[in-house]
Amino acid sequence: MNEPLLTLKRVSKEFAVHSKIFSRKPLSKLVALDEVSFSISPGQTLGLVGESGCGKSTLAKIICRLEKPSGGEIHFQGRSLTALHREPLRHLRKHFQPIFQDPFGSLNPRFTVFDTLAEPLRLFGKTADPSAVISLLQKVGLGEELLVRYPHQLSGGQRQRLGIARALSVEPELLIADEPLSSLDVSVQAQVLDLFLDLQKELNLTLLFISHDLRVVGHLSDQIMVMYLGRIMEIADTREILQSPRHPYTQALFEALPKLTPGRNRRRSILQGDPPSPIDPKPGCRFFNRCPYRQPPCKEYDNGLLEVSARQKVACIRWDALSLTGNSQGI
Ligand SMILES: Nc1ncnc2c1ncn2[C@@H]1O[C@H](COP(=O)(O)OP(=O)(O)O)[C@@H](O)[C@H]1O
Ligand code: SF4
Ligand SMILES: [Mg+2]
Repeated sequence: MNEPLLTLKRVSKEFAVHSKIFSRKPLSKLVALDEVSFSISPGQTLGLVGESGCGKSTLAKIICRLEKPSGGEIHFQGRSLTALHREPLRHLRKHFQPIFQDPFGSLNPRFTVFDTLAEPLRLFGKTADPSAVISLLQKVGLGEELLVRYPHQLSGGQRQRLGIARALSVEPELLIADEPLSSLDVSVQAQVLDLFLDLQKELNLTLLFISHDLRVVGHLSDQIMVMYLGRIMEIADTREILQSPRHPYTQALFEALPKLTPGRNRRRSILQGDPPSPIDPKPGCRFFNRCPYRQPPCKEYDNGLLEVSARQKVACIRWDALSLTGNSQGI
């Protein structure tokens, strides 16, 4: 097994918040990430999935150092990122590049397509001539006729492709794509997903791919990590998790997927409504309130990951007693 490219050890992120606006009470603690540990090997894709608010973007920002963790360790190629100061961190930064959900918001409106791609090339000491830029455009399926256009003159799919080309321009070792399909029309989503699949094959990318859609991550991930309220609920090889999910929350994500073939006996999803608040979380299993399999001992359990096999870990003390269903949606 290869040495991991990225390793997180017990990474946490807390925000101090007022639980009610205009409240005189002391600040509360919003736990966005709670002791998250995992690693990604070179050339692998880890898919991160979970409902809105479970901490996916916070995790992406912490890895890219757009946010500082409140605790824990991050190692990239064996080096601690948490200990690095500004200048060495700036040099390392080109090795991990983010791709955002909303490419419009992350592109400079005053930069043409050429400027958008030439800038990072120049910044990292590479040749920034038209042929280098055109070659980047070709990698993401865009034509050179777009070189003089501005972001507002591109379609949503073209903008996201440009965002991907910009991330690729510095030849990063790791791409962190935070819901890169969510802002696109459904027909364009499939095309951009295909682009990720092509790039994986061509460039041997290491990718952290974030989505709220289990079907999407099932398509392109080697491993899948399921998060709930800032904690990992399950992490496993894709085949394991699709065929035999071990966590009730993973099963609930399967059940919440829109049906490919509409059936009459649709079960009511236990995920209707929002997840509980991450402010001052109660002890015990985080999924307790929504879990149909809960028992009194679950109130004492802190969601530490338990080993089902070498390829699957789960944060549920009852996993062995449950028989959950997986790939019912034909992922
Ligand atoms: N800067 C911030 N200040 C306070 N709370 C935040 C901040 N950023 C994120 N959060 C909270 O952290 C939790 C996780 O958010 P986020 O990482 O954006 O989740 P996701 O990307 O899975 O939707 C949410 O409850 C969100 O409101
Ligand atoms: S530990 Fe208990 S409450 Fe938590 S997911 Fe497992 S069965 Fe449900
Ligand atoms: Mg997000």
